[in-house]
Amino acid sequence: MTWQFRKAMLDDLDGIMRIENATFPEDAWSEATMRSELESRNSYYLVGFDPTAPDHLVAYAGLSLAKGATQADIQTIAVEASLQGKGIGGSLIRQLISEARVRGAAEVFLEVRADNEPAIGLYRNLGFEAIATRRGYYQPAGIDAIVMRLEVAAPKGSFTEWDRS
Ligand SMILES: CC(C)(COP(=O)(O)OP(=O)(O)OC[C@H]1O[C@@H](n2cnc3c(N)ncnc32)[C@H](O)[C@@H]1OP(=O)(O)O)[C@@H](O)C(=O)NCCC(=O)NCCS
Repeated sequence: MTWQFRKAMLDDLDGIMRIENATFPEDAWSEATMRSELESRNSYYLVGFDPTAPDHLVAYAGLSLAKGATQADIQTIAVEASLQGKGIGGSLIRQLISEARVRGAAEVFLEVRADNEPAIGLYRNLGFEAIATRRGYYQPAGIDAIVMRLEVAAPKGSFTEWDRS
């Protein structure tokens, strides 16, 4: 199966919220929060779909990076439950990292629940390293958040030091 991805638009709000509510039944973002993410100039959201059914979104992920900033944050990511483990989440994160690089980020951060092994496994595979723990961050369950960080290489064509020795 081939999946396609495109930049999210405000019209995608309903499709994104359907996945959001199904994926995070206890702590889903409100529609207002998601709307302001999609509207923000500092955000870059992607949605995924099967090209034969482009109106049915199966995944989304979002990046936040203020203009001129060098630190980007992966804000959220979710893949429809029946389609997890097929590489969609990995593709989304890779594309967000790529966009962060193009926008001048030197580092990408994210927070993940300490009990979310699939997500932590995915981020590790992509080069993220755990740098801190926020105790009891996810309420009401009181689950810790692991803060992870990825160093982003400068885009090709920019100046890099060259060791001639
Ligand atoms: C986390 C999530 C976005 C990953 O997306 P995905 O499409 O399922 O991930 P991928 O298929 O790209 O998986 C890539 C890697 O993730 C890990 N992974 C994914 N699903 C896994 C599972 N069920 N068990 C263990 N590891 C898993 C593996 O390391 C996998 O590597 P592989 O290529 O060797 O299989 C998705 O599972 C999801 O939506 N989960 C619920 C919401 C969520 O937890 N969001 C993250 C909040 S921080």
